[in-house]
Amino acid sequence: MKNILFVASEGVPFIKTGGLADVVGSLPKEIDKQYYDVRVIIPKYRCMKQEMTDKLEYVTNFYMDFHWKREYVGIFKAVVDGITYYFIDNEFYFNGDRPYGDDVVFEIERYTYFSKAALSILPVIDFRPDIIHCHDWQTGLIPVYLKERFQGNEFYRGIKSIMTIHNLKFQGKWDIETVKDITGLPDYYFTPDKLGFYKDGNLLKGGLVYADAITTVSDTYAEEIKMPFYGEGLDGLLRARAGDLRGIVNGIDYTDFNPETDKHLEHPYNQVNFRKEKIKNKTALQKELGLAVDEKRMMIGIVSRLTDQKGFDLIAYVMDEFCHDAVQIVVLGTGEDQYENMFRHFAWKYHEMVSANIYYSDALSHKIYAASDAFLMPSLFEPCGLSQLMALRYGTIPIVRQTGGLKDTVEPYNRFESRGTGFGFLNYNAHEMLGTIREAEALYYDNKREWNKMVDRAMKVDFSWRVSAQKYQEMYMWLCP
Ligand code: GLC
Repeated sequence: MKNILFVASEGVPFIKTGGLADVVGSLPKEIDKQYYDVRVIIPKYRCMKQEMTDKLEYVTNFYMDFHWKREYVGIFKAVVDGITYYFIDNEFYFNGDRPYGDDVVFEIERYTYFSKAALSILPVIDFRPDIIHCHDWQTGLIPVYLKERFQGNEFYRGIKSIMTIHNLKFQGKWDIETVKDITGLPDYYFTPDKLGFYKDGNLLKGGLVYADAITTVSDTYAEEIKMPFYGEGLDGLLRARAGDLRGIVNGIDYTDFNPETDKHLEHPYNQVNFRKEKIKNKTALQKELGLAVDEKRMMIGIVSRLTDQKGFDLIAYVMDEFCHDAVQIVVLGTGEDQYENMFRHFAWKYHEMVSANIYYSDALSHKIYAASDAFLMPSLFEPCGLSQLMALRYGTIPIVRQTGGLKDTVEPYNRFESRGTGFGFLNYNAHEMLGTIREAEALYYDNKREWNKMVDRAMKVDFSWRVSAQKYQEMYMWLCP
């Protein structure tokens, strides 16, 4: 039996801002319980939903030396679907009304505290991991601390670490003096071959240098980040560690996302009856959102954080033109003001065809996956992307830019061989995107039989965790034979 510890800044069902939480919430369940005891540590945020906070059980507390102070570390615990979660409680650090704040220095301090606390609680909860599996910059210091100060202690000696990159864009960096002060790490660690990054100290970089293995969430992204365009300044390091870097594509929870059993849908459907049943979800949503009710009208869904990463500048650029097509556009999500306002504007201007839902709702997201004919995701970069996997599962055809995980999970339509599960374009160009959307429109309106065959293929591809969880296990085995 091997012990695996996940450490991350968010996890479903407790707290979620993005795909990281979905992965942290679903992957541990899929690791074989016969051979692995997987547990998870996340912060105890005050902004967690009350019904979730109510599930936590207090374990104990102690004080830890941190940043020139003695800092309180509370431990809470909960078991969900057979997985034990631990929560680090500290009201000074995790009291915000959102999980993440805008003050970079304080963010670095918070997650430095979290990383150190996560290591410090292990003897207290009496769980000695064979491997600590770290996720994103917030946990980048764990492999560093593990080598630097904890190895001296018998309990920690020999623990291996893995760093998984969900998004290389966020690294947790600030000037070296400040990072040195917060982390308590000596000068030695701030040279360019370690945490030093130009004038900054870089937490993710620390993780990438000191982890025993590195993964990211798709094969293509694993290749892309070795190049300057996607490498965010770390491509050199990733080339140097190429032998320890692998891509393992994310899956989604096939129980939560199942059009046949989805509680949010008025008209559940499956692979056999989608031709008749799926459109009923479309007319239901048209009514609910005040769009023109027309089952023949092609509906294009967007569920996303409204940020540059997701390609919204392309959409903004051609939105007016796009609104002259015979489509309906349904958006759900929040993000940068300019994009929130852009969608609000077009929803006002074309109210029967554009629905802007500038908030987040689990229920509405499921309804959009079920109701839409196509799903738009023109990302500038996309480590994996989960929405396109959800769309495929619901027989909603993804239209994507072929980058990162989008390239690995959506096979572009090939009309000569009647193959493919979606539409893809290569260059980050608004009219290339619009041209591809129009190809999809043409097939939808002019050749419904072919379209439906594609829906059929989309619903058949398997992006459950089955295959990828196996790959993580192979890696665990390779690290700890
Ligand atoms: C980040 C990435 C996204 C990925 C998710 C989970 O949110 O932007 O592409 O799917 O992490 O790994």
